[in-house]
Amino acid sequence: MLKALPFFTHDLKLLLSFMKIRTCVLVIIFLFAKCTAFSQEVTLIKIATKNNVLLLGVDEKTNLKQLYFGKNIPVGNYESLWSHSELNYSTYGNSAAEVALRVTHADGNMTTDLGYKKNTVTRINDNITLTTILLIDRFYPLEVTLTYKSYFNEDIIEQSMELVHNEKGLVTLYNFASANLSFKSSKYFLTYYSGDWAHEFNMIETALPEGTKTIDSKLGVRTNQRTNPSFLLSLGDKMQEDNGEVIGGTLAWPGNFQLLFEVDHTNKLSALAGMNPYASQYALPANTIFKAPSFLYTYSAVGSGEITRRFHRWARKYGIADGDGSRDILLNNWEATYFDFDEQKLTNIIREAGSMGFELFLLDDGWFGNKYPRNNDDAGLGDWQVNTKKLPHGIPYLVEQCKANNIKFGLWVEPEMVNPKSELYEKHPDWVITAPNRPLDPQRNQLILDLSNPAVQDFVYDFLDKLVKENPGISYLKWDCNRYITNAGSSYLGKDKQSHLFIEYPRAILKLMKKFRKKYPAITMMVCSGGGGRMDYGSMPYFQEYWPSDNTDALDRITIQWGLNYFFPAIGMASHVSVTPNHITGRSTPLKFRFDVAMTGKLGMDLQPQQMTGEEKIFSKTAIQTYKDLRDIVLQGDLYRLLSPYSTNRVAQMFVSEDQKRSLVFNYLLKKNIYADKTILKLKGLKPDALYTITEINKTNFSRMGAYEGKTFSGEYLMTAGLQFDMYNEYESNVLLLTTP
Ligand code: GLA
Repeated sequence: MLKALPFFTHDLKLLLSFMKIRTCVLVIIFLFAKCTAFSQEVTLIKIATKNNVLLLGVDEKTNLKQLYFGKNIPVGNYESLWSHSELNYSTYGNSAAEVALRVTHADGNMTTDLGYKKNTVTRINDNITLTTILLIDRFYPLEVTLTYKSYFNEDIIEQSMELVHNEKGLVTLYNFASANLSFKSSKYFLTYYSGDWAHEFNMIETALPEGTKTIDSKLGVRTNQRTNPSFLLSLGDKMQEDNGEVIGGTLAWPGNFQLLFEVDHTNKLSALAGMNPYASQYALPANTIFKAPSFLYTYSAVGSGEITRRFHRWARKYGIADGDGSRDILLNNWEATYFDFDEQKLTNIIREAGSMGFELFLLDDGWFGNKYPRNNDDAGLGDWQVNTKKLPHGIPYLVEQCKANNIKFGLWVEPEMVNPKSELYEKHPDWVITAPNRPLDPQRNQLILDLSNPAVQDFVYDFLDKLVKENPGISYLKWDCNRYITNAGSSYLGKDKQSHLFIEYPRAILKLMKKFRKKYPAITMMVCSGGGGRMDYGSMPYFQEYWPSDNTDALDRITIQWGLNYFFPAIGMASHVSVTPNHITGRSTPLKFRFDVAMTGKLGMDLQPQQMTGEEKIFSKTAIQTYKDLRDIVLQGDLYRLLSPYSTNRVAQMFVSEDQKRSLVFNYLLKKNIYADKTILKLKGLKPDALYTITEINKTNFSRMGAYEGKTFSGEYLMTAGLQFDMYNEYESNVLLLTTP
């Protein structure tokens, strides 16, 4: 902890006029005493990573202030920062802006006035340091603890908040942000996401003038269907890939969230991140801890590319299950059969999958329900017994078929949901989320189970537990979630706690995921929510993979994956080659293009191999083998964005292995250019002095790589002169492997 040492000249003058020189000794003693007294009042708290520092200070009135957040420079004179400091965790009562915390105390007082009490710093290991700051209301027995976990090498700060009180009665929480950061810049540009089913992760950049901008979800469940709890904030200018100050932040929470940016009349920006206060006031009994989710953030002085690489490195180590491992190449029957399958059909697919080199077969929706068979999406959800008509020999038979073909077996589940047409609903109509005196409001013919109810939690856990216990061959689960909350209401929570639902539901789902993951660490799990509706770092630690979108059209996937890749790494990003014309968009693209796109993530396929031509099968088999040989570059490598789909019809990105010895460069043309697209591709992230040999992969009988194939160039050359080759055709693509000994 660092202490400030102020020098008070006015004190000195005053004293000298009253004292003789011989008493100077006394002056010095006086000044020393004054400095010591001040230094006891002024505390600085430094939360540092390799490249960032968040500097907080406690002023003489014990207010916690943010002095600085940015590049980790040796901060010379801390005193100069005080004049621009801002309250770090604002509360209603002492701020006229949107506040981090607003509660009504048990006696009805709506204001909160927090004073700093103490901080602790714990070194968890060589990389992680935990700083906690205790703030206490100056009158009421209410404590707020801010926690900051700093990941040194990855440059990520994980911040959250806990509140507890000992008042005589309930304290009602209305605003409960996890973090509150301040910024000062001439201009601010915010990049965030918009979208919907099959159209996820579109990036929007907007200037932030004076006023308030909120990015939030009010969907309760499947909260990321329309936006994601992640943002990029660029200071001074529009966001650039390799230059400029950018802050990236994401809330680790699958529930309703709110990211709020308020620019005041002095052009100061206050950012709040946390659970959405919307319809969520929370009555907290005494001595009960209210925990806000983690908010993860980083600052880059060199553009958004660095933000991405930091989040990816962090995620592979801490944010996603088995982030340091590999991933199996999967064949999914969803787009191949939808609900229309039987044992024979699946057996054929499994055989083909084995012969093509797949490593895993995933049986999607439609395998369960007997009284109400799941033959389409209007029945059976909740009745997790194998449909004996479709699968007379049950799951074990399919597992055997997979084993015989040397591949693993996976299964689709949607644990939180129920169709009104199901035995489960007949038995427990009170288990669904719905408001009293309102008609049921199904989406995709389904309702949401009320997970705030412990009995429902037990049902969900027990069915998952039984499923994998009784079918030991299941090595993969796809956990889906296909609707959001409307008519919010819980028959369990009681009339005083209806507004707790949006908080208790995500808490319960995280608890379930954690419990299941703990008991079955070897099962690979994919998080899915009608596509990318549940993509957050609250859920991700329990899953190895995520399904970004039901839209498997390679052209659309380029943009969807481009957007999500800012925060989420390729190792989890399931990307499947599917049939053409695409089932959702009707677009036809070459098989090579589809592979070249899918191989930027976790490769899979969503089609009937039997419907492929011999030539297509040969191409696919070779591409699958190539992916096996090179997948670690994509799954574990650093991502560099070269040409964005938001600015040109030529898109390019590359992955560089950690040792910088191998790289894969992916390059696409999205639209026909009769004059040729002549964009020069300047590579990034290579070792300038190393000599890289170029080989094209996923080759067809046509190549534009004549000038490069098999040739060797220095990293410096490739990053300066770049690769220069023309492209003409719509959906043309190529992938280059760069290797250096
Ligand atoms: C959702 C998923 C799909 C598929 C279907 C099954 O839409 O996103 O991948 O699993 O459900 O009903």
